[in-house]
Amino acid sequence: MRILMVAAELAPLVKVGGLADVAGALSRELGRRGHQVRVVLPLYGHLDRQRLDIRPVAKLPPMAVRLGAGMHDIRWHLAGSGRGAVKIYLVEAELFARAGVYTDLLGRGFVDSLARAALHCQAALLLPRLLEWPVDVVHAHDAQAAPALVLRRELWAARPLPGPAAGVLTIHNLAHQEIHDPAQVALLGLPSTLAVYPGLLEFHGRLNLMKGGILAADRLNTVSPTYARETTGSPEFGRGLEQVLGSRGAHYLGILNGGEYETWDPRRDPHLIARYGAGDLAGKARCREALARELGLDAPAGRPVCGFVGRLVDQKGIDLLLPLLDRLAGDGFCFAVLGTGDPALEKAMAAAAGRNPRRVAFVGGFDEGLAHRIYAGSDLFLMPSLFEPCGLSQLYALRYGTPPVVRRTGGLADTVVDAPDEPGAGTDGGTGFVFAEPRSEALLGALRRAERAFAAPAVWAGLQDRGMACEFGWSRSAAAYEKMYAEAVAEAQGRLRHDP
Ligand code: ADP
Ligand code: GLC
Repeated sequence: MRILMVAAELAPLVKVGGLADVAGALSRELGRRGHQVRVVLPLYGHLDRQRLDIRPVAKLPPMAVRLGAGMHDIRWHLAGSGRGAVKIYLVEAELFARAGVYTDLLGRGFVDSLARAALHCQAALLLPRLLEWPVDVVHAHDAQAAPALVLRRELWAARPLPGPAAGVLTIHNLAHQEIHDPAQVALLGLPSTLAVYPGLLEFHGRLNLMKGGILAADRLNTVSPTYARETTGSPEFGRGLEQVLGSRGAHYLGILNGGEYETWDPRRDPHLIARYGAGDLAGKARCREALARELGLDAPAGRPVCGFVGRLVDQKGIDLLLPLLDRLAGDGFCFAVLGTGDPALEKAMAAAAGRNPRRVAFVGGFDEGLAHRIYAGSDLFLMPSLFEPCGLSQLYALRYGTPPVVRRTGGLADTVVDAPDEPGAGTDGGTGFVFAEPRSEALLGALRRAERAFAAPAVWAGLQDRGMACEFGWSRSAAAYEKMYAEAVAEAQGRLRHDP
């Protein structure tokens, strides 16, 4: 199949969170399975063109794209050699020529995010025509790419696009829906009726890109079966879109993300001081020592080092963790925290580190290498998320022999099996520690259970072994995407026959 991926992030080029990992890994896996994939990304101002080998595409001329009343000049670039099954196109434009994907360096959201999304999506839809490439599926990721599906449906229906160009939406996070002033619909080049009830984009009198994508897609999914159920089941998870999602019935699926084990493998991770694998964890002990040294932690043997790598936002349950830090640090626990996001949470975490200098280390920022060293060098990995569409960090932690402590929600519930509490029962199952209530006490309870298991070496080794043996690779998930693509194409072809 020929698949056009539209996403705001793609690892390893540009990454804020898991969306980048997924868009990258899924594209590569589809390529390995014989599909042709073209990815379209904005050429953000902070991307290092030389290091990433980003070059203009000679055969595609500069062109102008209309957004509302204005014209925007764009130039096409390619990353890497441009050979192989996955080609990554980047759109250069004034609107993207600054540092940041969604926010500036101070974490302030861009006010022109709708215009950026509109330009990215308009450009993406031009590509199949420019390349004379008959596209089977336009696969949009999250709200920023959702306009590609609305435009395809409403604007491009009348224009010839080579191939059926079926629309597929993957929802990575319903907390970000891109909600705007309805007057801005003009920027998308779409009729204003679409932003007025009962228009596709209308949402409580506002314009909602995610909603438009959900309704315009031939098929859609989110990134775990549990989050799919949660988001149709209650406003808490559906964020107001629960009924819209429910209206898609069986066309809305939960497909679990995979972990890209080529990149996330302690046996050959170039970021680690020592490599290790199941059955030989000596290297992990060296990684632990090195991490403690790097972060200035005094990590007593026999007391767990707890790692956290993630966006410091409400979603991640940082508020459950913060009140426990002083007490657990007093008990000899160590914490290695890497994250950036909400300035108030960063400040609170930095303050906890300040109060517990040898026990709590906080690095505010984005650091790919340190992330790998934390997955490897920690004993436990913390993910007390309030909601978690899938979560990749827990998959990496499992592979690195670092049992995760997670809340039972979304993809965490689908990937971590709670370990039984009784000493000696560790061989019976379990890969981590799961708690249910979104309260600090519940997280503390799970950490105390982990502490007891950690004190029993045989129990602990069993936990690590089972975690490292978990297979959340991409092949199964990619097969589920292939099936969804085939259904979407059949749907689009049917529509084209009825409404050519
Ligand atoms: P989310 O997509 O909600 O951020 P995931 O668990 O799906 O959560 O994916 C997070 C990804 O981003 C992981 O690859 C994680 O290692 C990475 N990550 C998050 N914050 C940082 C950071 N500050 N530095 C390096 N990597 C980070
Ligand atoms: C989102 C979610 C996360 C998921 C990731 C990739 O950012 O918060 O749970 O793993 O997307 O799908």
